[in-house]
Amino acid sequence: MVKSKKYSIPEISEGVFMVGVKDWNRRLFDALIPLPQGTSYNAYLIKGRDKTALIDTVGPGFHGELLDRVKQTASGDIDYLVMNHAEPDHASAIGTVLNSNPRAVLIATAKGSRMAQVYFQVSEKRIEVVKDGDSRDLGGKTLRFIEAPLLHWPETMFTYSDEGGTLFSCDFFGSHTAFGQYDEDVPDLTTQAKKYFGEIMMPFRRMGQRALQKLEDFDIKVIAPSHGPIYRNPRKILTVYSDWTEGRTSEKALLVYATMWKATETMVEALGETLRSEGVETYLYDLSNADIGEIARELVDSPALVLGTPAVLGGMHPLAANVAYITKMLRPPLKYAAIVSSYGWGGGATREAQAALGVLNLEIVGTVETNGPPAAADYEKLAALGKSLAHKIKE
Ligand code: FEO
Repeated sequence: MVKSKKYSIPEISEGVFMVGVKDWNRRLFDALIPLPQGTSYNAYLIKGRDKTALIDTVGPGFHGELLDRVKQTASGDIDYLVMNHAEPDHASAIGTVLNSNPRAVLIATAKGSRMAQVYFQVSEKRIEVVKDGDSRDLGGKTLRFIEAPLLHWPETMFTYSDEGGTLFSCDFFGSHTAFGQYDEDVPDLTTQAKKYFGEIMMPFRRMGQRALQKLEDFDIKVIAPSHGPIYRNPRKILTVYSDWTEGRTSEKALLVYATMWKATETMVEALGETLRSEGVETYLYDLSNADIGEIARELVDSPALVLGTPAVLGGMHPLAANVAYITKMLRPPLKYAAIVSSYGWGGGATREAQAALGVLNLEIVGTVETNGPPAAADYEKLAALGKSLAHKIKE
């Protein structure tokens, strides 16, 4: 007889269990974001004296594993399924969970309720709509709901458990890594969290600031996000989130470029040399092999962007156009930009790059364009541009 698999299910605080899953092999999110360390879809089971709640579910492909984990942990059926967020990486198993737990009701915000009906065909009769400050008593455990719109979708909310001071923050404070269970297990967790912030949360910095203000009223001892490790030492992530949401920048510059015959690369590197000699930290990426998540991470606190592009058929190289487009979407706290470009037999890239970056509400400090590889006079122009940019960054 084959015995069923026994899962390792951590009790993250008294009566609170992590029943989510690790997706070790996923390598791309939203057909855009690289996941070199996979990710996790965290779901949490909370056992009160009288009732049991499940907070969020898991992504497609893991429904059976979630049910097995819940069954192994809960004493009986669950009563509440809390949907903090309707995106399918957390909500795709809602139908499966409700079918397996006939008396369970779904708890969601008003917008979440509509999404649950449309995306997951949940009957309105099985949904309880909650708003900011509402709560549910599980018997010795109280769940409080905190609306957190646009972190990451309009319907998103957090859930806070009074006893144990655990904040279930959904995507906020998340990180895309399957490694580790708790913050202390992952030495580079802040780097991972910063990458995630740049990719997912940076466009919503103002909403993030509002959420952090709301959270000041709560005694948070544990942060249990929906991706990545659980914070048993939440102070550090709260501090860096305050910096990141406010757009605090460092004395650094992000240099990204496409190059075909090395002329643009040589120019970007020369500019980088000047920036470093002026005391500015530089982060340089060749777009032909760069991880777009690392670029998003460095945009979180870079005041300056240098975009290098050769001219291709009268415009930017497509890789440079792509990074300019992504930068516009992510709404980073950039203040300054510089553009360097080379062309063989016709220009056009600088003009297009100026137009692409011009919508970002930043100052384009200067441009340098060469015909072919840079000559001595071009290096002088690059040095002058590097000094001007460094001066602005350090102002
Ligand atoms: Fe992890 Fe917005 O979903």
